This record gives sequence, C-alpha cells and structure tokens, in this order.
Amino acid sequence: LHVAVLMGGWANERPVSLMSGNGVADALEERGHRVTRIHLDRDIAALLAEAKPDVVFNALHGVPGEDGTVQGMMDLMGIPYTHSGMVTSVIAIDKELTKQALVPHGIPMPGGRIVKSEDLYTADPLARPYVLKPVNEGSSVGVAIVTDQSNCGNPIRRDATGPWQEFSTLLAEPYIRGRELTAAVMGAGDKARALLVTELVPKSGFYDFDAKYTDGMTQHVCPAEIPDEITKLCQQYALAAHRRLGCRGVSRSDFRWDDERGEDGLFLLETNTQPGMTALSLVPEQARACGISYGELVEMIVADALE
Ligand code: DAL
Ligand code: MG
Repeated sequence: LHVAVLMGGWANERPVSLMSGNGVADALEERGHRVTRIHLDRDIAALLAEAKPDVVFNALHGVPGEDGTVQGMMDLMGIPYTHSGMVTSVIAIDKELTKQALVPHGIPMPGGRIVKSEDLYTADPLARPYVLKPVNEGSSVGVAIVTDQSNCGNPIRRDATGPWQEFSTLLAEPYIRGRELTAAVMGAGDKARALLVTELVPKSGFYDFDAKYTDGMTQHVCPAEIPDEITKLCQQYALAAHRRLGCRGVSRSDFRWDDERGEDGLFLLETNTQPGMTALSLVPEQARACGISYGELVEMIVADALE
C-alpha cells in the first residue's frame, strides 16, 4: 500500500504528533509499505493531491487534525483515512459536547460547567478542589487542579500563572480523588472490542504533560490491579462511548475512579479519537499486552480505514 502519514501541525500537541507519526511511518516501512510523511501545513490538500496515497494514516493530535477539519477535507477529496470521521471528531474533541452526547445514555461523566477565564478572578466556579481544562486540548495541555492549598489565591489572583491566562474559556469540573484509568477500544460498529484497562500512577503530582511523555515519570499498570467489576465497567463505558460517538479504528477513553465509592465512583473524562502512538503511549502498550505488536496494531488501524 501507499500510505501517507499526517503528522505535526500547529497544535500544542505538535511534538506528540511527530512522535506518533514517525513511529507509525517507521512501522509501516518495516512492513513493506510505501510511506509518504506529510507534515501538516496550510498546503495539506495540495500535498495529498500530489501524493495520491491509497490511504492516509492520521497521526495528528489536537486542532485541526483531531477536530474534524482535516477529516472533512479528506472526505471531500475522497481519500480513505484512519480513525474517526468528521462528525465524530467534531463532538469528541470537545469535552463539553462529549458530555451532551454520552451522559444521557448512562455513561457517567463529571458535572461542571464552562466558565469565562476572566470570571475566575472574581469567584470560584465550583467548590474546591476543582479542575480547569480547555475544552479541546489533549495531553493535559492547559489543565490545572485548583485546591485549597493552591498558591494561585482564592479567588484566583490576576498575576497567578495558569491556563486562565492562555484560554478565554475553560471547562471547570469537580476534582475526582482516587485513581487514573484508561481503556482502549478497537474496530468499528459491531466489531468494536475493548482491549485492557491501564492504571497510571505518576511519581508525583498528576498525570500531566511531563508525566505522560517523560520516561520513568509514570508507572503504567497494565492490566490495572483493580476489582474485576471496575475493569468490566471501564470497558463497558469505553465501548459504549466508542459506539455512541461512532468512533472507528481505535479510541481511548480516560477515567477517574474514586476507589472509596466503588462502582459509583467511576467517571469517564473524555474519549480520545486520535490516541497517542508514541513509545510511551497507552494504546500500543495495551495492544502489546493483548499479543498485538506495534506494527500489527498500525496495520489493523489501516485495514479498518479501508473496509
Ligand atoms: N492526546 C494524546 C495524544 C492522547 O490522547 O494520547
Ligand atoms: Mg485527550
């Protein structure tokens, strides 16, 4: 096959996408495919039209590669591509829209609301501790946990550093104490199946950008050492979210589990339609634990796009 691998871009997650994209491109080349590496820029349509690939492996993260923009362009161009389609991507990139799509169908997600960053200087939007996050970033870019002990003041001081300085609106959610879990789902429609559940145990602080991409900063426990019923519930919610959102190829749903509250303490935070494919990423790790090598995983995602 001739596969164009899209990577890079101008989102905050650009370096992550380069790691994902080059990893995928190397694996496809090793398996005998012809690969064109395309770095996303404004000429992307011209580059794709010139390359005329059989299929595109979309290794972009964030906006505009994960939010439906690039997907819609490829739909118009008639080029098959990996992972989710345009409408799914538009909804899943937005953590608030995702809630509107999933919560009515019995998938528990934290409450919360959209706040204007400016208003955070006047009053807390929720009882502390709470989490502030941009609606459409990934890899924990712009995430802050505001606690009673936070040195950003109460209410937040104007000179305190945090995501409220960079993003004009943020999603505020109650902080869920306890444990960080994630579950991948592969395939589309009736063929979709959950892989495993991984627990992420950062050496310090929370599972932020550095803890995600610095080797040794987070322990990955795969499969997670949690009660069977919580594993099953994670997989059930991840599969339901994947189906309800209409995901293809692979998705990964992230959870917080308050282990003092049993099954009622499990909350889906979001479903990632373009989960990381870096050396430290979770989908490749879960696949490996299921006996699927990185190269086989890439091949399966490509095959799914061509079905
Ligand atoms: N947003 C990053 C790439 C992930 O979900 O893995
Ligand atoms: Mg994400």
